[in-house]
Amino acid sequence: MSPFLLTRTLPEDATDAALRADVLHGLTHTPKTLPPKWFYDAHGSELFDRITELPEYYPTRAEREVLIARAPEIAATTGARTLVELGSGSSEKTRHLLDALPGLHTYVPVDVSESALTQAGQALIAEHPELGVHALIADFTGGLALPGTPGPRLVAFLGGTIGNLLPAERATFLASVRALLSPGDTLLLGTDLVKDESVLVAAYDDAAGVTAEFNKNVLHVVNRELGADFDPDAFAHVALWDDEHEWIEMRLRSLTEQTVKIPALDLAVEFADGEELRTEISAKFREEGVRRELGAAGLDLAHWWTDQEGRFALSLSVAR
Ligand code: AVJ
Repeated sequence: MSPFLLTRTLPEDATDAALRADVLHGLTHTPKTLPPKWFYDAHGSELFDRITELPEYYPTRAEREVLIARAPEIAATTGARTLVELGSGSSEKTRHLLDALPGLHTYVPVDVSESALTQAGQALIAEHPELGVHALIADFTGGLALPGTPGPRLVAFLGGTIGNLLPAERATFLASVRALLSPGDTLLLGTDLVKDESVLVAAYDDAAGVTAEFNKNVLHVVNRELGADFDPDAFAHVALWDDEHEWIEMRLRSLTEQTVKIPALDLAVEFADGEELRTEISAKFREEGVRRELGAAGLDLAHWWTDQEGRFALSLSVAR
């Protein structure tokens, strides 16, 4: 048995360099933007876990429902011997798949968080002693090199996180996923679906204010990592539905005219009163759009499964 291997494909200082580049670029362009990946330090990850339990935030529960209902079909269709999970985090959802895939040889969780990978990996090995776990510390949007484990391969990208990418970024990302697969290998993709605006907006602007805190956490991250002096109380959380692009946008609206200093970048950033900084898009999908985007990347949609209420979909597609 080869119980647990950990490979770092991300240099130790890559995260810091990427944050600097993203903040410099995002705060010196109009409109101002910051990429959502910087929400997830330890506190932000904890806030996200709380979001998944909020009454308004249905995607996690809806996806779990589909995963539990369809795990046997996923196992039968894919016959996977290697399961790669992009953005695996706590690997909580994966358990349903692992339990259904008795022939699985190796699980490859991929995440930027070494602590999450180690914790989740050790726990899974205790539950599945026959399973090899080869964790990769990597950014799933960059080029990945997978271990040479036996096929068929199943790549899972769950949670609806693909919705955080802009359409052009999704095309690049799906092509890079396709490049990891041989013909007949499969992709299991979670996508949140277009629905009533009030349901969507409530999911991103909950009554308890957890999502507002999560949104402002990116300012705490920039303060800590780059010595900035953002006052999170000087910004308001905004969640709105963009009907044209069919995505939710989260923004931080400056409550006053203010200047924020970012010493590590030797930068002063001016905000007008009411100016908005975009911190996340969360695109919502329809079956035809998902089919088209997968097809353009060389992946043929084979199954489309939703929860009972039709809120969230899992698709299984096959590499051509
Ligand atoms: C983890 C990216 C799927 O877009 O719904 C939750 C993140 N943002 N509430 C999503 C999030 C605000 C979430 N994803």
